Amino acid sequence: MQIILASANAKKIKELKAILGYENIVSYKEILGDFEIIEDGVSFSENAWIKARAIENRVQESEGDYLIIADDSGLCVEALDGMPSIYSARFSTIKASAKELNERRFEIPSEGGSDEANNLKLLECLKELGIQESKAKFVCTIALCGKVGGERIEGEYSGELEGKVINAPLNPQAFGYDPLFIPNGYEMTLDKIEEKNTLSHRFKALQKLKKFLDGIL
Ligand code: IMP
Repeated sequence: MQIILASANAKKIKELKAILGYENIVSYKEILGDFEIIEDGVSFSENAWIKARAIENRVQESEGDYLIIADDSGLCVEALDGMPSIYSARFSTIKASAKELNERRFEIPSEGGSDEANNLKLLECLKELGIQESKAKFVCTIALCGKVGGERIEGEYSGELEGKVINAPLNPQAFGYDPLFIPNGYEMTLDKIEEKNTLSHRFKALQKLKKFLDGIL
């Protein structure tokens, strides 16, 4: 049986294989080709399910068993009323001030921004609000659907990593907002924490998914 991942990100596929311990994980692009999935949900859960359903609609004809895993994740900053949230990857392309973000007055962006630009946008927001740090958390939601032994399977699993965002130097080698985020109980930013992959929001959500999958596979 194939486990189809709703991502073409090689790093993510490698991380998922390592955490879940299954080798039969493939990117949807490998078996279905390239097609655009418009993530226009209003929550991590909605976006994860949009991705899962878009893929499932294309594999449903198959007689055999399959599983689809779709995740959505992002950073929620308390001083920004939970933003950038589902817009984390597109944050820098939102043309709105921190005040407007807090009042939810902004146009939904379609373009992605680079990690550097997204980090700079977050620093700009902290500066505008006149603060050096804010409570924040990373969130990951995973949607699972498919067919195992002819039985319909569906589930949703979430994980969070709480901490704070701070005014810190950027790190071009790091992923996403890691250079600006300090998890609770730590004194350094996430990009400098070796065990990041075993404390992350994604790891926590994947552990819950693994517990379920180990019971049925
Ligand atoms: P995705 O949905 O997992 O591709 O993540 C969306 C965006 O959230 C990424 O582009 C990052 O900006 C941010 N993000 C998600 N997880 C992390 C993380 O573990 N560290 C830093 N940034 C993250």
